[in-house]
Amino acid sequence: MSEPVAIESVLSETRVFPPPPEFAAAAHVKSFDEYEQMYAESMRDIPAFWEKQAGELEWFEKWHTVLEWNEPFAKWFVGGKINISHNCLDRHLTTWRRNKAAFIWEGEPGEQRTLTYLQLHREVCRFANVLKKLGVTAGDRVALYMPLVPELAIAMLACARIGATHTIIFGGFSADAIRDRVNDGGCKLIVTADGAFRRGTEVRLKDAVDEAVKQTPTVENVVVYRRTGSKVAMQPGRDHWWHEIIETVDAVCPAVPLDSEHPLYILYTSGTTGKPKGILHTTGGYLTQAAFTTKMVFDLRDEDVYWCTADIGWVTGHSYVVYGPLANGATVVMYEGAPNFPGFDRFWDIIERHRVTIFYTAPTAIRAFIKWGEEHPLKHDLSSLRLLGTVGEPINPEAWMWYREVIGKGRCPIVDTWWQTETGSIMISPLPGATPAVPGTATRPLPGVMVDVVKKDGTKCEPNEGGYLVVKHPWPSMLRTLWGDDERYKEAYWSEIAGHYFAGDGARRDERGYFWIMGRVDDVINVSGHRLGTAEIESALVSHEAVAEAAVVGRPDELKGQAIAAFVTLEGGRTGGDELKETLRAHVQKEIGALAKPDDIRFTDALPKTRSGKIMRRLLRELASSGVVAGDVTTLEDFSVLEKLREDEE
Ligand code: WTA
Repeated sequence: MSEPVAIESVLSETRVFPPPPEFAAAAHVKSFDEYEQMYAESMRDIPAFWEKQAGELEWFEKWHTVLEWNEPFAKWFVGGKINISHNCLDRHLTTWRRNKAAFIWEGEPGEQRTLTYLQLHREVCRFANVLKKLGVTAGDRVALYMPLVPELAIAMLACARIGATHTIIFGGFSADAIRDRVNDGGCKLIVTADGAFRRGTEVRLKDAVDEAVKQTPTVENVVVYRRTGSKVAMQPGRDHWWHEIIETVDAVCPAVPLDSEHPLYILYTSGTTGKPKGILHTTGGYLTQAAFTTKMVFDLRDEDVYWCTADIGWVTGHSYVVYGPLANGATVVMYEGAPNFPGFDRFWDIIERHRVTIFYTAPTAIRAFIKWGEEHPLKHDLSSLRLLGTVGEPINPEAWMWYREVIGKGRCPIVDTWWQTETGSIMISPLPGATPAVPGTATRPLPGVMVDVVKKDGTKCEPNEGGYLVVKHPWPSMLRTLWGDDERYKEAYWSEIAGHYFAGDGARRDERGYFWIMGRVDDVINVSGHRLGTAEIESALVSHEAVAEAAVVGRPDELKGQAIAAFVTLEGGRTGGDELKETLRAHVQKEIGALAKPDDIRFTDALPKTRSGKIMRRLLRELASSGVVAGDVTTLEDFSVLEKLREDEE
């Protein structure tokens, strides 16, 4: 990331899909002209635009200043008093929505629970009283390490109700990861469960917590939700069963008016160095943008059955399973388990049974669906769907087309949403009734969001010239700092490109002003002085019918600076060989050009991924460069993948 060289972008895509006329006619934003007007107006006065959106929420006291900006520290709606739990729950109870389903939950083994807004409100109030009983007060931190059950959302909303700051630790993390996060956050309480179900087997959560709390001096109590029913050790005085302690409190718990900048949550995410970064989000601004984007990007309406498949342990689950949808009074589907349990059609079965209308998932999941075969979705009636979305990484045009044709039957717009843990909400995305979609691009920034593609020195890139994706004006749901580390916050996000927020993505903007995310800048490779986005080469590989998934990394090369190494998994039934390698090299050359032709292609059964499904290119880079992996592998989901790759190497 040290040189000011622009990133070369070489993939071109010419297919354009305008919103279906019937969809556009009924949408919140009905035409591209309307979007452009809205955008232009928002850019004339960004704070005024967001002030209008904040007015959609219920405030106990109005702010006196919309934005206080001391670069790089922002405060939004200063002086305002608000409570997120009130906005997600109480506000709906005075309307017909009181008996509307808030959550429709399905456990992996098949049980179903529906919680109306009234029922959810009651459970949140009760659990908030449990928190109080255990000595938790506004400003305290509470760690949540739970399966994807309604009680996780209940615990989040209970924290928000009394002003405790939650930090959710994804249920796949180890005891060491829990310990480090709990200690960094100085958490007073941990809420966990006996275990979680994953592909039919139990992941033992309480055991990991027991191990972690041996070295977490700040933790006073542990609340344990009974999920799997397996035997766990309970330490008297410290550990409390959820179902027991909840019976000792009543259901009356008024929402506390909190300062707009009150810390809502800390979410740890990995940086380029070892120690995870504690991304801090606060209250009023965060909810304003999460609620606004949920409504606009998903064109949400009261009749929708909305399903975002993300685990709540990731930011997508925070903003688009819980806070954004509930602030809009939506009906949200929650599914606890794996997409291929008990069969490869579990997701499609859920969509059919609950008549899901909006489906939001990740490209990595879509590529898995493709690999498993279209017979699984084809078995089910998916006609309830009206909108599809993706998030988390660039979606290659082939996967986009498959999603559109096989899942959306060519009827449903697709919103490719770009954002980050740090941005808190979606920043770049089509508006489904307004923006003509092009496979592979997140299209345009949302109203109120000023983004650009610049060179290292901050000057604007030309159309189609690759550069650094930056945000040029503070936005309400931006991270406020890294927990307890203002210096690292400045260094990580505000030092690379003077005056702008930069968090690692390369991008180009095409002649229509659409943003093409080219992947992380640290995933950029430099071949003979040409910097290429690995995502583009991967897209080219995946567009070949034999390829299911591909990861491309650079390895040192005497002649070219870097050579391109590709790790490729094949479609079911296909086998690799030298002939196919040559075919794929020729295919990439045809799609992009000779400079992008992989030097090495290695066929493998699976790629190493993090628990959130991101390919761990760093490991592949090490493997491609030196033949061994020495670096940190704590976030790797399945270690056997790495072992397998090592064996293949030998
Ligand atoms: C990548 C997930 C291309 C990007 C919400 C970003 C994307 C990182 C997209 C953040 C997209 C996310 N197109 N790339 N639509 N969405 N990314 O923090 O590299 O888990 O910087 O937040 O994912 O990942 P995070």
